[in-house]
Amino acid sequence: MELARRLAAFFAGVLLGFAGLASVAVWLPREAALAQQAGGDPFSTLKLQYARPTFVPRPPGDAPAPAVIALGERLFNDKALSSTGTVACASCHDPRLSFTDGERTGKGVTGKRLARHTPTLWNVAFSPFLFWDGRAMSLEDQVRFPVEHPDEMGDTLDNGLRRLSQRESYRQAFRDAFGDDRSMTAQRAAQALAAYERTLISPPTRFDRWIAGDAAALTYSEVNGFRLFNGRARCSACHTGFAFTDHNFYDIGLAGTDKGRGKEIGLAAADFAFKTPTLRELAWTAPYMHDGSLATLDDVIRHYQNGGVRRPTRSTDLPRDLKLSAQERGDLIAFLQSLSSEAAPEPSTESWVGAGRPAPPSLPSETTVVSQAGKNFSPAHVRIPAGKTLTILNDDTRTHNVRIFDPRLDFNSGAQEPRQSVTLTFPVAGTFQAFCSIHPSMRLSIEVK
Ligand code: HEC
Ligand code: HEC
Repeated sequence: MELARRLAAFFAGVLLGFAGLASVAVWLPREAALAQQAGGDPFSTLKLQYARPTFVPRPPGDAPAPAVIALGERLFNDKALSSTGTVACASCHDPRLSFTDGERTGKGVTGKRLARHTPTLWNVAFSPFLFWDGRAMSLEDQVRFPVEHPDEMGDTLDNGLRRLSQRESYRQAFRDAFGDDRSMTAQRAAQALAAYERTLISPPTRFDRWIAGDAAALTYSEVNGFRLFNGRARCSACHTGFAFTDHNFYDIGLAGTDKGRGKEIGLAAADFAFKTPTLRELAWTAPYMHDGSLATLDDVIRHYQNGGVRRPTRSTDLPRDLKLSAQERGDLIAFLQSLSSEAAPEPSTESWVGAGRPAPPSLPSETTVVSQAGKNFSPAHVRIPAGKTLTILNDDTRTHNVRIFDPRLDFNSGAQEPRQSVTLTFPVAGTFQAFCSIHPSMRLSIEVK
C-alpha cells in the first residue's frame, strides 16, 4: 500500500520532467523531514494565507454589467478627458507596462514631474484606501483626483464628459451601460472607471501553482526565499495575503521630506508612512517605492538590510539588523520573481473576477471591551446595548488611530499609544463601522441595540 503510493508518486514525478524532478529532489528530503514532524505539508498553514481570493470586493448592489466595464476601459484609455487632449489614465498607468509608466515619477499635461511615483493598478480592488497616503476612500472617489490635478489631466470630469457627449458613440456606450442616456454624469463615469479597475486582478503565476499544491512549481531557492520572507526577514508582517499587502501605512525608513499618511490624517505618529504596495508582477513595475527611488529588487532588499533612516516613526514591524548572505538575498529575490508572470501580464480571466460576492457576516459578540493586539480588533464584530460604553484597549505594540466616519457619529481618537484605551458611546441605535486610519486592515463592526 505504502510502496504503491510511493511508486505512483515517483512515476508522477517522472512525468513532470527531469528539470522539475531535479529541483524537487534537491529540497524534498529536508521538506519531507519537516513534513513528517508537522504531519503534512510544512507550509500548509502559511499557504492558506496566500491563497487566491474567490471574489472581488465591490460596493453593494448588482455586479456591474459588462457594458459598464467596457465603458470604464474606454474612458481609461481616452485622452479626451484631459485639458490638452494628450493625457489619458493609461498614459501613466500603461496596460502594456503593468499599469505603471516605468518612470521614477511621471508627467502629465504640463510636463512637470509629479511628486510621487505612479503605482501599478494591479489588485487595487482590494485596497480600502487609494494613493500612497490613502487620501481617497474608494475607487469611485479616486477618479476626480488625477482628472483635476493641474499637472496630471488639468481639467474637471464634467468638462471632459461635455466633450465626450458630442460623440454619438459615447452616448450609445452610456446607454448600453446604464440603460438610458439621461445624463453622462461624472458619477456614472467614475462608476464605470472603478468597475473596470476592479477587473485588474494580477493573473496566477508559478507561485499560485505551488500554493495550489504543485510542489515542483518552485525551485529550492524560491521556496527558501518564501521561508525567509515569512521568517527571519519579516516581510510578511506587512506584505501578506494573495496580493502581498495588508493595505496599511508604514514608515519603512526611506529618506525624504514627504510626510505621507501623517500629513493626510494630521497625525505625527503616521509621518513618513505610505501604503504597503502589492508585490505581484514586480518584474514589470520597476522602479519601486512612493518616490521611485529604488531601481531594482536588489536595491529594495539592501534597503531592508540597512534599515534606512532611524526616526521615531520608523515601523517596529521592520526586521531588526537583518543579516542575509548573498545566497539568501538571491533566494528572496528569486521568490519575489515567482510572483511575476513570465510574459507581459494580462488581467486574470479567472471566473470569479467581475462576479463579486460579499463576505458572509460574522456573528456579533456581546462584549463592551475590544482588544487591538497584533493589528486586529478582537472581537471584530460586537453588539452592545444603547447607552453602554465601548472600550477599545490598545494592548498592541503600535500606535493606532480609531476613526468612525458616520453622519451620526464622527469620531477620531487621535494618536492612541500602546496601553491607552479609547471609550465610545453611541448616540443612536444602529450599526457603526470603526477602523484604524494607520492600519485600515483593522475593521470593527459595532451593533448598537
Ligand atoms: C500624469 C500621470 C497620471 C495620470 C494621468 C493618472 N494617474 Fe493615477 N496615479 C498617478 C500617481 C503619481 C499616483 C500616486 C499619487 C499619490 O499617491 O499621491 C496615482 C495613483 C492612482 C491610483 C491609486 C492606486 C493605489 O494603489 O492606491 C489609482 C486607482 C489611479 N491612480 C487611477 C487613475 C485613473 C482612473 C486615472 C484617470 C482618470 C489616472 N489614475 C490618471 C499618476 C497618474
Ligand atoms: C513594516 C512593514 C513592511 C515590512 C516589514 C516590509 N515591507 Fe516592503 N513595503 C512596505 C511599505 C509601506 C512599502 C512602500 C514604502 C514607501 O514607498 O514609502 C513597501 C515597499 C516594498 C517594495 C516596493 C514595491 C513597489 O511596487 O514599489 C518591495 C519590493 C518590498 N516592499 C518588499 C519587501 C520585502 C522583500 C520585505 C522583507 C525583507 C519587506 N518588503 C518588508 C512595508 C513593509
